[in-house]
Amino acid sequence: MYYSEETVQEVCAANDIVDVIGQAVKLKRKGSSYFGLCPFHNEKTPSFSVSPGKQIFYCFGCGAGGDVVSFVMNYENMTFPEAVKSLADRVGYNLPEVSLSEEGRAKKKEKDRILAILKDAASFYFKLLRSPAGENGMAYFKKRGIGDNIMQSFGLGYAGKKSEVTAFLKEKGYSDNEINAAGLVYIDEKRGMRDRFFNRVIFPIMDVNNHVIGFGGRVMGDGEPKYLNSPETAIFDKGKNLYGLNAARRSRKGYMIACEGYMDVISMHQAGFTEAVASLGTAFTPDHARVLKRYTEDVRLAYDSDGAGVKAALRAIPILRDAGIRTRVINLKPCKDPDEFIKKFGKDEFSKRVEEAEQSLCFEIHVMEKNHDLSDPEGRTRFQQEMAKRLSVIKDEIERNNYTEAFAAEYMMDSDMLKRAVEQIRLMGDTSALNSSTSHPPGSSEVKRNTDKASSGMAGSQKILLTLMCEEPDKVYKAVKQYLDPEDFSPGMIGTCAELLYKQLDEGGPKISAIVNHFEDPEEQRQAAEIFSAPIDPFISNKDKENVITDLVIKIKKDSLKRIAMEEDEDPISRTLREKRVLEKLEKVRITLE
Ligand code: UTP
Ligand code: MN
Repeated sequence: MYYSEETVQEVCAANDIVDVIGQAVKLKRKGSSYFGLCPFHNEKTPSFSVSPGKQIFYCFGCGAGGDVVSFVMNYENMTFPEAVKSLADRVGYNLPEVSLSEEGRAKKKEKDRILAILKDAASFYFKLLRSPAGENGMAYFKKRGIGDNIMQSFGLGYAGKKSEVTAFLKEKGYSDNEINAAGLVYIDEKRGMRDRFFNRVIFPIMDVNNHVIGFGGRVMGDGEPKYLNSPETAIFDKGKNLYGLNAARRSRKGYMIACEGYMDVISMHQAGFTEAVASLGTAFTPDHARVLKRYTEDVRLAYDSDGAGVKAALRAIPILRDAGIRTRVINLKPCKDPDEFIKKFGKDEFSKRVEEAEQSLCFEIHVMEKNHDLSDPEGRTRFQQEMAKRLSVIKDEIERNNYTEAFAAEYMMDSDMLKRAVEQIRLMGDTSALNSSTSHPPGSSEVKRNTDKASSGMAGSQKILLTLMCEEPDKVYKAVKQYLDPEDFSPGMIGTCAELLYKQLDEGGPKISAIVNHFEDPEEQRQAAEIFSAPIDPFISNKDKENVITDLVIKIKKDSLKRIAMEEDEDPISRTLREKRVLEKLEKVRITLE
């Protein structure tokens, strides 16, 4: 689903960035910008700036930056279309219906209808739990230690004993077919349509936008099945949705906890671990991993500690690794699952376990160890071979050697021998048993940012000049453009931004947010915001400003001369002459801002 650039611009224009960010961050005016505590990193003094003039934000602490859409994307963890939609809703802007085929329209209508049914059903279950008819359900949740707040925020409910939901929905005007398509009933040969969920406590399953897409219902005691879930419907795909993600995506802990069950998620959220999600009875899928990758690159598994849980963790690890996610495994022993652990040992102890979670590779090797009898030479050999195979999958050589040495030491093996075994397997390319690569992609934006800073001499000067130009186009731009063309700025992001800025200013006014928006990649958007947010002393005198700009113009022009000479291999004599002429002219440059 894509909106036209025009539409996006209109939505942005209707959403002042100071208003939008001001709802999330306390802002204080300072000069021409607003400042507050950055919501994207921990800080005690405000370095997060929002510019009403440019309609962009930039954090001098962590380098986060962009326009109003990128703010919403980052802050709310939304995709681009989701963020545009949310901003449009915020101001009551009617987004054009994305054009759909006849068939697409029918599908969308069916989906909307199912969503409406599920929403009505959820609120029915919710109310029933809180009515006299829901007494049993309420007692059950209380017995399991769930407080009112969590019951509320997870929308917990109760399904009664008399096919109440079907009756309620029919009353509301939904057809039998629709109720069936929503997965809320089964057809009994004698009695016709019956409620699927019946005398169970209800856990609504929501998508990231808080739409109810299905339900889980638990028996209140013993009975089979323990949990009954909605079937897959036009809107419910078990392999793609994670229980609790609608809340967890706001947790901002930097990692997520993935577990197995409804109650585990609820217990963890109640104890403050709001970063917990569950894959609900189905095995963890590559789609789950891709969804999580949108929010984090660090997942801690809190799977059950029994054999099935260990197996499930071993299957999830390579899937996460393939999605570029580092995984650690939380040790829950002596308990079975996070719910039990928190009840028994409390949240501080659980927090420790989360901290101490074991690297997935160590977890894998330790499981391997348990499957072999190391006191038996044959068992030991097989264990070492398997370990070598696993180590051989690590792509990065340094990392591979480090792990190889560490495990050799741990199991008192000759490390050179283990290394040779690992390299041999690599040479033969025999890693079939262990799919996929290891080691997450290097170069987080943190690293990139630091190298940026290191090489920032010329880049820094250009950013300052571009920032001054967009802040005072009438004076600074007018003066600068007599000496500098967009091509005089360094190629790459800065050059592109300069080109866009010149174009905009010539067309009558800078719309910096539109320049930021011009880029699709979030990292490029961030860089663009950074380029136009160079720190400028708000109290600088006009005279000083003129001097600074003059120096900058000369510096940038000289750099550009050097670059051009390198690019076009001009003959040395004419090059020297040409440069001399330009340099002579540069000597005389005096920027005046009238
Ligand atoms: P568990 O059997 O480990 O249950 O199943 P649990 O989460 O500890 O539940 P409580 O604490 O006894 O209430 C883990 C998850 O597997 C799915 C559910 O999502 C459950 O939360 N499951 C389990 C089913 O879908 N159906 C079942 O019959 C059992
Ligand atoms: Mn449990």
